[in-house]
Amino acid sequence: MASTEQEARTRGLDAYRLDAYIPERLVEEMCDGRMLGRLLVRKLGRRVVPRALARQDTETIVTSFAGIAVFDRPDLHKGGLSFGQDFPRVLNELGVSRVTRLFEYCAGPGYIGYSLLANGWCESLVLSDISPAGVAAARRTAAHNEIEDRVAVYESDALDQIPAEERWDLVVSNPPHFLPDATAPDDIQVFDEGWKVHARFYESVGRHMRPGGRVVMVENSAGSDPRLFEQMIRDGGGRPLKVHEGTDVNGRPNGLYYQVSEW
Ligand SMILES: C[S@@+](CC[C@H](N)C(=O)[O-])C[C@H]1O[C@@H](n2cnc3c(N)ncnc32)[C@H](O)[C@@H]1O
Repeated sequence: MASTEQEARTRGLDAYRLDAYIPERLVEEMCDGRMLGRLLVRKLGRRVVPRALARQDTETIVTSFAGIAVFDRPDLHKGGLSFGQDFPRVLNELGVSRVTRLFEYCAGPGYIGYSLLANGWCESLVLSDISPAGVAAARRTAAHNEIEDRVAVYESDALDQIPAEERWDLVVSNPPHFLPDATAPDDIQVFDEGWKVHARFYESVGRHMRPGGRVVMVENSAGSDPRLFEQMIRDGGGRPLKVHEGTDVNGRPNGLYYQVSEW
């Protein structure tokens, strides 16, 4: 792929590229013989069938977070495999420890939420997304791992379909990071028109937060200005706490920032 085309598709971050983050060996180690056979056939198939013609509509196990096998479809991934692995480190940097109930907003298949559940950051997990396919993958993960008693998954436009009685101690999210771009096709995974997915969240999340609860949203420095979200947080009744720079394991800035607020 030409580098400018790749740059446009990844919007500057390797984290958005699915092929950079599928830890195939992990997948192989956790699959039985039949599953391995299917993976092999699919792998060989990818060599002969062009990517554009390959089926994108079936869920497969894509990774294991400390024993939780996570299902997704290639078209549902926008960095969560990478961010899911980064979040425990980031929460450590922020001094956020284990909570009772954790919510992942804009969860898609729930990469971040399942990673945090697997790593002991919460007793129970709530996931939501507007995409029926993302919700189906998230439910498949809960069923496959027999953790449905600890996981609730809602199909919801912003927080509109979340039951009123839901209460959270910690909310995490990898929301769409950019305003629409006239040169790129519409994509609700990438673009947040008028920042409405953010604004609607911040104006309604307060009613679901336990006192003192935190919201930690990962954002892209190239896509947004944290001061805009700070205003939304105040308008919704929260308190902006910190804008935490994302770094790689060597401490170098990685193009992300984490918007932290208290409720
Ligand atoms: C950047 S993608 C993140 C996908 C996945 N969580 C990941 O980390 O790779 C943003 C997600 O926001 C969801 N989304 C977009 N608009 C939404 C809305 N109005 N309400 C709820 N979710 C929405 C998309 O379906 C998509 O799954």
